[in-house]
Amino acid sequence: MAGSGTTIDVASELGRLVIGYDISPYRKDIIQSDARKIPLENNSVDFVFIDSPYSDNVKYSDHPDCIGKVSCEKEEFFTELEKVAKEIYRILKPDKVMAWLIGDHWRKKSGFIPVGIKMYDRLCKYFETVDVVCVTRRNQTSNTGLWHKRAREFNFYLRGFKYLFIMQKTNQEA
Ligand SMILES: C[S@@+](CC[C@H](N)C(=O)[O-])C[C@H]1O[C@@H](n2cnc3c(N)ncnc32)[C@H](O)[C@@H]1O
Repeated sequence: MAGSGTTIDVASELGRLVIGYDISPYRKDIIQSDARKIPLENNSVDFVFIDSPYSDNVKYSDHPDCIGKVSCEKEEFFTELEKVAKEIYRILKPDKVMAWLIGDHWRKKSGFIPVGIKMYDRLCKYFETVDVVCVTRRNQTSNTGLWHKRAREFNFYLRGFKYLFIMQKTNQEA
């Protein structure tokens, strides 16, 4: 779920050996692959970072297997992301850590959906929690006067943060 490749660039800057995958690669150094079937051996990587879709609010591509086509209003959304969690568990070396970035969701029809908390619940089936970090959204387009005005006018909250779940693969088999 490498998207535009920010993670690859940051990892390279940190001197890490990095491989980025996406269902619909945006650049040549991202490998086409479904996050539910990652072409890596069991127990082979030191760290995984993932920024998954939060629902169907953004159109990432026309690829039929894009999980961002499934609304978080459906349980299927979490079922598919759990398959990704299981796959991450498979490829991580024992005792190594993964970090999953995810935000919540609000729609007029369905109201608030705690996507982060629901995903955290699924992650806990496989991993031990190391930490939960709130990542604030400082430079997002929703942090403008126009969106503040809309939020007051149409009575909704602006999401102020995303969750970063830092989870460890302990020796116990999931
Ligand atoms: C929130 S975006 C990631 C944004 C990225 N962090 C960036 O800086 O651009 C989610 C990504 O997940 C990808 N994706 C959706 N379903 C996928 C799947 N089944 N397997 C792999 N990638 C998938 C989308 O193509 C999209 O690029």
